[in-house]
Amino acid sequence: MQLSRRALLRSGAIVAGLSLAPRVALAQSDRIESLIGRMTLAEKAGQLSCFSDLLRAPGIVFNPGAASGNTAEQLANLRAGKFGMLFNGTGVAGARTMQRMALEETRLGIPLIFAADVIHGLRTIFPIPLAEAGSFDPDLAERTARGAALESTATGIHWTFAPMVDVARDQRWGRVAEGSGEDTCLGQAMAAARVRGFQGTDLRDPTRMLACPKHFAAYGAVAAGMDYNSVDISMEMLREVHLPPFQSSFAAGALTTMSAFNDINGVPSTANRWLLTDLLRGEWAFKGLVVSDWTADEELIAHGYAADGRDAAKKAFLAGVDMSMSSNLYNLHLPALVEAGEVPVAAVDASVRRVLQLKDSIGLFDNPYRSMNAKAERTQIASPALRKLSREAGAKSIVLLRNDGALLPLKASPGRIALIGPFGDDRDNVAGAWAFMADKTIGVDLATGIRAKLANPKMLDVVKGSDVEAALPGGIDAAVAAARAADVVLLAIGETQAMSGEAQSRVAIVIPPAQQALVEAVAATGKPLIILLRHGRALALSGAVKDAPAIVATWFLGSEMGNAVADVLFGTVNPSAKLPVSFPRESGQEPYYYNHKTTGRPASGTPNEEYKARYRETTNEALYPFGHGLSYTSFALSALQMPATVPASGTLTVSATLTNSGKVSGTEVVQLYIHDRVASRTRPVRELKRFERVTLAPGATKQVRFDLTTADLQFWADDKWISEPGAFDIWIGTSSVGGLQGSVALTA
Ligand code: NOJ
Repeated sequence: MQLSRRALLRSGAIVAGLSLAPRVALAQSDRIESLIGRMTLAEKAGQLSCFSDLLRAPGIVFNPGAASGNTAEQLANLRAGKFGMLFNGTGVAGARTMQRMALEETRLGIPLIFAADVIHGLRTIFPIPLAEAGSFDPDLAERTARGAALESTATGIHWTFAPMVDVARDQRWGRVAEGSGEDTCLGQAMAAARVRGFQGTDLRDPTRMLACPKHFAAYGAVAAGMDYNSVDISMEMLREVHLPPFQSSFAAGALTTMSAFNDINGVPSTANRWLLTDLLRGEWAFKGLVVSDWTADEELIAHGYAADGRDAAKKAFLAGVDMSMSSNLYNLHLPALVEAGEVPVAAVDASVRRVLQLKDSIGLFDNPYRSMNAKAERTQIASPALRKLSREAGAKSIVLLRNDGALLPLKASPGRIALIGPFGDDRDNVAGAWAFMADKTIGVDLATGIRAKLANPKMLDVVKGSDVEAALPGGIDAAVAAARAADVVLLAIGETQAMSGEAQSRVAIVIPPAQQALVEAVAATGKPLIILLRHGRALALSGAVKDAPAIVATWFLGSEMGNAVADVLFGTVNPSAKLPVSFPRESGQEPYYYNHKTTGRPASGTPNEEYKARYRETTNEALYPFGHGLSYTSFALSALQMPATVPASGTLTVSATLTNSGKVSGTEVVQLYIHDRVASRTRPVRELKRFERVTLAPGATKQVRFDLTTADLQFWADDKWISEPGAFDIWIGTSSVGGLQGSVALTA
């Protein structure tokens, strides 16, 4: 993976139209240099170490095998200067106590920085990032990130381990839920928006927190979607698909990143000098801090890449990991490694400088108690404004997959409704996998949200029918009876929040069999069925679930889930979200993504087509493609315009007219895709390059215009970004399938 210096220079720093402007630099300061000059090696190793907060622990243990020690030991370690950062604790009082100890009871009085996994909200939970990506609304993502920062900083957090920007093309991988889905362009826009939302423009603002795009790198490409698995990847795939969201995050001002668990082509990310130093600090000129993922340095031993803890610490550090998370390896070994001449002290100083600069960048040396305000903690958490934002974000993240016969929206008096399934009145699975610090008391279940919409709330019957993964005695009989008595049936089925997220890969991305049986029995009543899917990934739907006339992707929408779903069901909000991940026909199609290569034998989609790139049992089309999502109104695109040719130095303007051809106001996500017809590398069948949400009143029209540059037409070949003269297909559409098609020739 070594690149020549010339190749690095030639490569430029442009990805998908995004120029890598010099990012917010960490300030130099005499104060920091003087501190470094006075620090012992042990104190330096301490600043480069971080641990989960035991004093203010959220009450659940992560990675139980690795969590060690007790509160008394941690406080003793604090006094001894054994860490520079603690994470995943909340609470102003505890933060102030520990900060006072750091200032007054350690030799040098260096303030602590507090971090946490605030992925989609702290107490008020917003939709899982995957769902929110479906809004195709970076402004919304910026606002929810801002909301998460408001709550987090009110409880003493300075730094979030987010956004998660891993592109995920295999839906078996449980961590799909945490990111923006399968597409790089969408992922870039969401990543940058979230960084802006967390950080704002003034890092010293006590209501803003530092971002940490993760997991660097290619964690989303783990083989077969199994979490923590190996990554074997071409440089083309790495550069074009997996790295751009990191570049967008840094361009938006992110000053930290987290090294991933996985190896890349045989070298673990956490010991990968090419990745963490040559690329990140060299080619990209990143000036910020690299923190390892949880014990990822120690895991170099299990990878078979390091012999023991000492070797692991040395390899991770020399590769470019500034701060070690949870393993304690830097405390244990860095001083001795320096004394033995195996690690240069200048490198240790450079890492310590980054940690201190990061603290300085948010003002901790001048205002060590920033974001530790007891009044803010009382007033800023779960405020009505944040809950309103959560409801808005929830409704904007719901994808209407199918709506035959305009079954939706429901009328205010739709007759008797049976709400059947394990998620009907369940409040434990509204938040999603990364919400362990959520305020569970404010979570709104579906039944509550729906009742609030009904003229007569007694017209709703709620029947569980089945557990998530096991049948309930008499469950199906009760459900069928309720369905028979109903005019319309809502089926709230899918995955628990524990079925996605870290370490939750699935071999088959199906509705669990017990629930499938429930749906089959209810469908046999012949009543109109509306499926409300609960899920942290795309699912392979089958049988009566797949055939239901209305299907709604509702993910995990956070604190206001029930209200947000009800808003869409009753048409208070017209659905506008689009799928950020393709729904395949079968689990076995995974990894499945819209922007695949054509192959030499592309299938046409006709069933049973022999000797084509497809499986025996199914066509290879998506059941619901990336970018798909319906509205209660209809939209028409017309008048596609683009020039016949564009010079390499020029701007390519493509436009089309969008008309709301239906009867209600609505929002469409207009999407622009390209395809390079003939190139020196095989190219994806389509690649998303631009999108825009457009809201139109019935009958209204808007010309939607996109400007592209050559950077949008580039790909990675022979260690550099290139674009080649020739024809490009261009589509403007409302999903990754279909749309208005034209072509343009890029001239030399
Ligand atoms: C492990 C996860 O991979 C990472 O995303 C998270 O930030 C750390 N644990 C810290 O909790």
